[in-house]
Amino acid sequence: MHAAAAAPIGVFDSGIGGLSVLQALQAELPHERFVYVADSAHAPYGERGDAFVAERTHAVADFLVSQHRIKALVVACNTATAAAIHEARSRYPDMPVVGIEPALKPAVAHSRTGRIGVIGTQGTLGSAKFAALLATVQDQAQFVIQACKGLAYAIEMSTMQAAASDPTHTEVHRLCAQYTEAMGDFGKDPGQMDTLVLGCTHYVFATEDLQRLLGPEVTLLSTGEPVARQTRRLLEAAGLLASTPAGQGIGDGKEHTQAMLQHAQRTQLLTSGDLAALQAAALRWLQLPAKQCALALELR
Ligand code: DGL
Repeated sequence: MHAAAAAPIGVFDSGIGGLSVLQALQAELPHERFVYVADSAHAPYGERGDAFVAERTHAVADFLVSQHRIKALVVACNTATAAAIHEARSRYPDMPVVGIEPALKPAVAHSRTGRIGVIGTQGTLGSAKFAALLATVQDQAQFVIQACKGLAYAIEMSTMQAAASDPTHTEVHRLCAQYTEAMGDFGKDPGQMDTLVLGCTHYVFATEDLQRLLGPEVTLLSTGEPVARQTRRLLEAAGLLASTPAGQGIGDGKEHTQAMLQHAQRTQLLTSGDLAALQAAALRWLQLPAKQCALALELR
């Protein structure tokens, strides 16, 4: 094993959305250590423009490389991937850099009606990268594309409030309803959209709202799992996979509990924004204790 294999994997997003990707990474790579950055002081990225998002992407990547000596970077943000993944790769040519993009190809494979909805930020859906991706599948299905201004921010804000009756949570529901209604009919009949691509990592945390609005027949597609598998492939190819800790294997329940515990200890979450908000999100979405979270003052 390469000496650097023991180093952590850096994961980042404009905020809490990338936790949905971190969840998949933890499941796929249970022996790895992760440092997650929520750049919440500068969120949302989706309506800020490419230059701003690229600048933040480089600031966070440089921070993770210099302060945490990461061995790989996962850009768990569609908007940052669209704006800056190429530059990030040339900035760190020797480090695996994994990005995320809307699951258009899986959607084509999945859809029976051939009509597919895609939601994301303006930054992602208006990007040249997305246009190029769409061009590869455009003749294979019909796509209804909707930028959801304000939805990532509303999801970010909703984390602090757990109750469904909470007004901020209602804002998530209201925006989901407004945007999906504007897209047209969902369902499994001919002419209806039977698949919705979640082209923003935050939207995974609105899955319940969206599914309730669209009905059980509509499939929501996110990209955390393929990204986690791609991260494994790149680490494997570079000889950078962490080895299994001694005495830990897949077997009885006791070993599983121990692995879960180690999971928590192996993940550090940092924010450039509000610490309490990150702690609430970490507990709610990843069942990680507050002590795993800290402020990244350098990124403010
Ligand atoms: N979670 C991000 C994405 O996947 C961006 C949300 C935002 O900051 O606008 O695009």
